[in-house]
Amino acid sequence: MRVVLNVTKENPANMSYRMQSPEHVIAEIYERPAFNIARSPTPRMNSATRVIGEDGMNGALLNQARQIEQAVARLSDDDLPAYIIDLGQIERNFRILKSYFPEYPMHYAVKANPDVEILRTLLSSGANFEAASLGEVDRLLSIGTPPQQIAYGNPCKSTRNICDLLDRGIRKFVIENLADLQRLLEKSSDVRIALRLNLTELRENHIDYGATRSAISEMMRAQPSLLTNVKGLTYYGSHTIGLSACERVIEEHMPWIEFINLGGGFLYEGLAHELRLGKSMGSFDFFTRLLAQFKKRTSVDFILEPGAVLVKNACHAVAQVQYVNDTNRELLYYHIDLGPTLGLRKPVSRILVYGDSGESSPSALIVDSTCAKKFVARLSEHAKLEEGDIIILPEVGMYSLPYICDFHLLRKPRFIYLRDTPSIET
Ligand SMILES: Cc1ncc(COP(=O)(O)O)c(C=O)c1O
Repeated sequence: MRVVLNVTKENPANMSYRMQSPEHVIAEIYERPAFNIARSPTPRMNSATRVIGEDGMNGALLNQARQIEQAVARLSDDDLPAYIIDLGQIERNFRILKSYFPEYPMHYAVKANPDVEILRTLLSSGANFEAASLGEVDRLLSIGTPPQQIAYGNPCKSTRNICDLLDRGIRKFVIENLADLQRLLEKSSDVRIALRLNLTELRENHIDYGATRSAISEMMRAQPSLLTNVKGLTYYGSHTIGLSACERVIEEHMPWIEFINLGGGFLYEGLAHELRLGKSMGSFDFFTRLLAQFKKRTSVDFILEPGAVLVKNACHAVAQVQYVNDTNRELLYYHIDLGPTLGLRKPVSRILVYGDSGESSPSALIVDSTCAKKFVARLSEHAKLEEGDIIILPEVGMYSLPYICDFHLLRKPRFIYLRDTPSIET
């Protein structure tokens, strides 16, 4: 068996989530007894690897890899491509994040992964939800979510959308300008409204929905009494920038604000590690302290809207190499059959590869098997893969399922659900 770990180019939006020395994990995985899925190849040690202890981040990744392998071992070739969805991990993720913010409602951002079993799991764990389309709202209602537990977080909505949402009992909305606010209030006065802030003024090149501070000043001049219908502020992006923007708006314009919806973006490295392990170790205390201090100054309450952090580590994609393209010797392409996924939304940072042809290969790109040839991951020097070799893409739970579509009408990945899984031991 061979396991390759590889770090792709850094994703600036996700810098805090980079792993520590992932190459270390290779050595550990190489060293354990060969895992005989597929062609039961002979393990080969990569000269670049080093052996480390099984503790800390590396130990967690290693044990996670073992758990995933156990699940993959139960699959046959007919099950592939597959997504392994670990609902036990989702429950643990929710419980740990909630333990840091017991007093604040947590709305899962459905767009991160709208899988119905994930939604059911989060609903029974006590989550509320943030929906950004009518389809998401309908799916939530279809599994018995009370409409009071759903907030509509998308500022982009037609008047028709507003009517449809009100008909379904949705009462929590986000607006970004006066026309938007007026239009909503004309349809219902029984609504709880948050104003989305745009952080552009405070950070260059931050393109986003929402009102800038100067737009808010303008709104205050134009129709101050209309704005008093807004009881909350929200943003999406950096929490330090977002919170200070909220504080200025409260001080300068809207002292009546009752709550701040912090949006998402909670994938901090320390927290990601704790979630993987299934236990909180205080790495997020700095954030709870920050919120407590903020609350003391402004007496607002908070709402959280986590998406990625609740699902990323709970879904793993399993695919086979379908075609090896070495036409142009400088660069090797492995096309994997991950179904019609249009690749994945973000390149993955870590992969597990099974198979060993014995032939060494320099760098290669892993791409999807459609004519779009979407980039999935990059491999540095490695033992060449062959058709049929198995690739696992761990932790691709966020924003990947929506990329499964009808493109090329390929067979869609099968979803394999794991329930009641134990947390990773290190
Ligand atoms: C309004 C809003 N809330 C929450 C989220 C979830 O963010 P994340 O997946 O970073 O936690 C998003 C993501 O785009 C969003 O737009």
